[in-house]
Amino acid sequence: MNIPMLDLKRQYQYMKSDIDTAIKNCLEHQLWIMGPEVKQLEEKIREFLEVKNCAGCCSGTEAIVLALRAFAIKSGSEFFSSEDEIITTPFTFTATADAIVRSGATPIFIDIDPVSFNINPDAILKYLKCGSANKAKGIIPVHLYGTPCDMEAIGEIAKKYNLFILEDVAQAFGGKWKNKMLGSIGNAGAFSFFPSKNLGCFGDGGMVSTNDDEIAEITTSLIKHGGKDKYNVQHIGYNARLDTIQASILLAKFKYVEEFNNRRIKIAKRYNEGLSEIEEIQPPSIVEGAVFHQYTIRIKNGRRNELQTFLKQRSIATMVYYPFCLHQMQVFENRAKVPEPLVEAEKASKEVLSLPIEPLMTIEEQDYVIETIKEFFEKR
Ligand SMILES: Cc1ncc(COP(=O)(O)O)c(C=O)c1O
Repeated sequence: MNIPMLDLKRQYQYMKSDIDTAIKNCLEHQLWIMGPEVKQLEEKIREFLEVKNCAGCCSGTEAIVLALRAFAIKSGSEFFSSEDEIITTPFTFTATADAIVRSGATPIFIDIDPVSFNINPDAILKYLKCGSANKAKGIIPVHLYGTPCDMEAIGEIAKKYNLFILEDVAQAFGGKWKNKMLGSIGNAGAFSFFPSKNLGCFGDGGMVSTNDDEIAEITTSLIKHGGKDKYNVQHIGYNARLDTIQASILLAKFKYVEEFNNRRIKIAKRYNEGLSEIEEIQPPSIVEGAVFHQYTIRIKNGRRNELQTFLKQRSIATMVYYPFCLHQMQVFENRAKVPEPLVEAEKASKEVLSLPIEPLMTIEEQDYVIETIKEFFEKR
């Protein structure tokens, strides 16, 4: 058996007629830039998230940059200044903090919770209480692996210190926090439609969601060079549009997103059951609203890399998300602040391993993964 992390070919076969029809329609109408599918997708996702505004854009990374720029512009400047601080997790994809730097601000890395792997609200509070509150402008909680952050605690902190919240929902399309859709809780949400995401297109794509009409209006203008009128612009904008063809594919795949998220949750529960007796493994907790973009275990005895090699030899793909924390990367060396040692994030980067979680995985394939992991720990 050969088990990839994800099997996009299998998914395509499952949805083939919907996707082929969508692409064929684009070929017929030839409206490649801001064609009707872009608006249709924005409207569909807007309804799904129960938000006032959604704007499609060219990637999840740009969605974060666009939203941050919109917050800066709303507060009166084109860009943030390096004095302006934005709080986030060091245990995420580079793009989260890279976008902060690109918006002009300074990322403040705050440690994670060892169980959820998400930013620890108590640690945020501790930082803000130390007198830096006047410099902090916002928080970017990342719903890592599809697990919702504690939006109640983060919301209270944001309110107390007058901070905006930009949810990084790149890994959590369709996820919820207490019955509220992720991306609808903060002041804005940034989504990625990278092919491997829970809702992914056939290239790059992203979206900004918000209930704030002003943020929506600015974001929409920034996507198209920074003006309402393309030939007379107000802001330093981008060419960050979502391609019509990607929107059409996303519309076709949207039909399946809840089914696929449920399949992911089912696989996660099955893995948890199957792996429950292995002492060296800390399985993820099955939190309500989580959509398991990744199924990530922690290996407690320092044998993570050994297990990964063993699984590879048995043709089971795995990934380490992430082998380095952001504060350990050269790019953030003089561009970010680390107020407290990031002990939990560093520990996680050495212990986590994400297992295949292809929504269309068969029971036999899931069992093969479970049995092979058991074999590794029994034999040695
Ligand atoms: C947490 C997180 N934020 C942001 C991004 C950036 O999204 P994109 O790859 O669409 O630019 C990703 C994508 O990998 C991500 O996982």
